Amino acid sequence: MTQDELKQKVAEAALHYVKDVAIVGVGTGSTVRHFIDYLADSKQNFEGAVSSSEMTTAHLKKVGIPVLDLNAVGTLDVYIDGADEISPHKHMIKGGGGALTREKIIAAASKKFICIVDESKCVDVLGAFALPVEVIPMARSYVAREMVKLGGQPVWRENFITDNHNVILDVHNLNILDPIKLEQIINNITGVVSNGLFAMRGADVVLIGKGTEVITR
Ligand code: A5P
Repeated sequence: MTQDELKQKVAEAALHYVKDVAIVGVGTGSTVRHFIDYLADSKQNFEGAVSSSEMTTAHLKKVGIPVLDLNAVGTLDVYIDGADEISPHKHMIKGGGGALTREKIIAAASKKFICIVDESKCVDVLGAFALPVEVIPMARSYVAREMVKLGGQPVWRENFITDNHNVILDVHNLNILDPIKLEQIINNITGVVSNGLFAMRGADVVLIGKGTEVITR
């Protein structure tokens, strides 16, 4: 199976977790895009979705799924999203698509985070994928210097502005042996809006497309 076929398979498997759910939290990326298509085709009876990005919002609207405001709906039962890397502890690096802050907000506001990935995303230790950090534009150089102090090599994602009108630093070569601690340290740097480590609030269930199967972890 190709990587995209594996993404489709896990996306379809995620439908099981939204049965009888009135409002679904929806992440961002190519795997989630497949999930949205399956959700629309499923004709399940649900009220709508809370979206993690403008890109996801556009796709939800295109397939006829109502998009709801998180402030109006309170705690969500389920959040479905992909990841750029995931560890055996269900800690993740996310934000390859730049939607990390809204993704983190919805993950925090959800009872259950179902992560859907193809097997290429599974790693023993996080960090081969550069860690995205969303930063207030005027703090870009300052935060970059702080990231160097942490041992990273920050690269400004040029010509990219987040949905929240901020910039992204992709930080290479970080030694992520304690993801929870590093997530907190980076959050505490002035000018950082959020970082792509999802360790304090990791996934609850991981669906992995591997070979011809979907493995549940
Ligand atoms: C978006 O900002 C990311 O957090 C995505 O969840 C991640 O990049 C996964 O994307 P794919 O499903 O396209 O691999």
